[in-house]
Amino acid sequence: MSFSFAINIYGCQMNQYDGDRLRTALTFRGWKETDTSQADVVIIVTCSIREKAEQKVLSEIGRYKKAFGVKGKPILAVIGCMAQNMGVELIRRFPQVRVVVGPRHIGLVPDALEKALRNKVVVYLDEDPREMVDLKVTPIIRSNPFKAFVTIAHGCDNFCTYCIVPYVRGRFVSRRPDEILEEVSELVEDGILEVTLLGQNVDSYGKDFCKGYRFSDLLRDVSHIPGLLRVRFTTSHPRDFTDDVIEVMAEEQKICPAVNLPIQSGSDRILKKMNRGYTVSGYEGIIRRLRNAIPDISITSDLIVGFPGETEEDFVDTLNMLERMQFDLVHTASYSPREGTPAAVLPDQISQEEKKRRLAIVNELQDAISFKKNLDLVGKVVEVLFDDLAPKGGGLLQGRTPTDKVVLVPGDETMLGKLYEVRITEASNWYLYGELVSLRDFNDVLEVGL
Ligand code: SAH
Ligand code: SF4
Ligand code: F3S
Repeated sequence: MSFSFAINIYGCQMNQYDGDRLRTALTFRGWKETDTSQADVVIIVTCSIREKAEQKVLSEIGRYKKAFGVKGKPILAVIGCMAQNMGVELIRRFPQVRVVVGPRHIGLVPDALEKALRNKVVVYLDEDPREMVDLKVTPIIRSNPFKAFVTIAHGCDNFCTYCIVPYVRGRFVSRRPDEILEEVSELVEDGILEVTLLGQNVDSYGKDFCKGYRFSDLLRDVSHIPGLLRVRFTTSHPRDFTDDVIEVMAEEQKICPAVNLPIQSGSDRILKKMNRGYTVSGYEGIIRRLRNAIPDISITSDLIVGFPGETEEDFVDTLNMLERMQFDLVHTASYSPREGTPAAVLPDQISQEEKKRRLAIVNELQDAISFKKNLDLVGKVVEVLFDDLAPKGGGLLQGRTPTDKVVLVPGDETMLGKLYEVRITEASNWYLYGELVSLRDFNDVLEVGL
């Protein structure tokens, strides 16, 4: 029998990847994707990184209570990090939740859904963090036809003291290179032009193999797949980032000149308490080497303000660090205590108001830096791969430069999935606006294939 499903995805790109694989697996089974008002099952792919992320999901779950009470549908499947974090409590609190599956058992979700529709309640949590039942399917039914994510390693062993990921995603396990390369090749055959390799710490890729195949080897091999135009990766970790990655980025044209290298704080004292394993000056050394080897590289970062015990002096160190680094963009957040992590029980927790104040100050400073960096691009001609309609509409297309800047240009759907030369006409801190110069002749880049 075939059923209908809707899927809502929260959290990071790994969830996007998991969601697209689930879409594909269910569609191959004959299920039909629809909207939440029609669906037999609503699948919610969840995130636990901050309290706010969990609250959003809880309020979505609450919204189905009435319909479920009246019509007996939709039933809900809560999967991913928050499913792992809250477990059976979700079933106890919400009668509409009938399936709870942690992120390392995604492979069991399709069967679990069919069981739930036969009136069972199904819970698969990842009690043994090494045992995995992955979903072995290439995400052919995707939210975007031109770009895709591919997870190259599961879990994380870093145990930064603020972070819940190692507890919900389990131990670090690299996927085999042949499996990844085959998946990327299948995606390219299906029309993918840009792939982003995902891991919580891509630089530790391969450390769990006995032979010395490293992240830089994988990057090189992926970039040699014919027909693929762009390779990206995220997230890098300053403790494990090595110069061979810089070398391969400088050598291989298809590897985009963009790195997200989270610094988290500008104070060595706080970095130590976070268990990050590097100092600010060590971090600056990596930035220097990256900028020397790849002059037009864009560097983005992540930053937490208000970690327990962060003094005004530590905070000023962070502001000075931002001034020195001149990041293209920074994902900022105020510290959110996560139950079960060491930082949640540290003394000297910072008040909500103070965290809010510090967040507003870093955002104001970084917005000005990002804006200035984008302003430098006005008048320049850049390469843009258009991959979607702009979310704001207004006849605008959305694309990205190799440096991962979002560019909005007036255009129509026939331009999607193509590379254009675009002249930047206007900048804001998040977007660039531009006008078309020409369709880019990229036969030289394509080698064979297509
Ligand atoms: N593995 C990556 C990113 C993981 S989560 C890394 O090591 O950087 C993405 C970002 O969420 C982190 O970089 C961090 O800035 C933020 N984050 C994680 N836990 C948080 C918490 N408890 N409170 C606030 N921000 C948090
Ligand atoms: Fe969390 Fe640290 Fe692992 Fe990133 S490296 S996922 S911040 S524990
Ligand atoms: Fe969130 Fe889990 Fe990703 S906690 S950020 S969905 S790894």
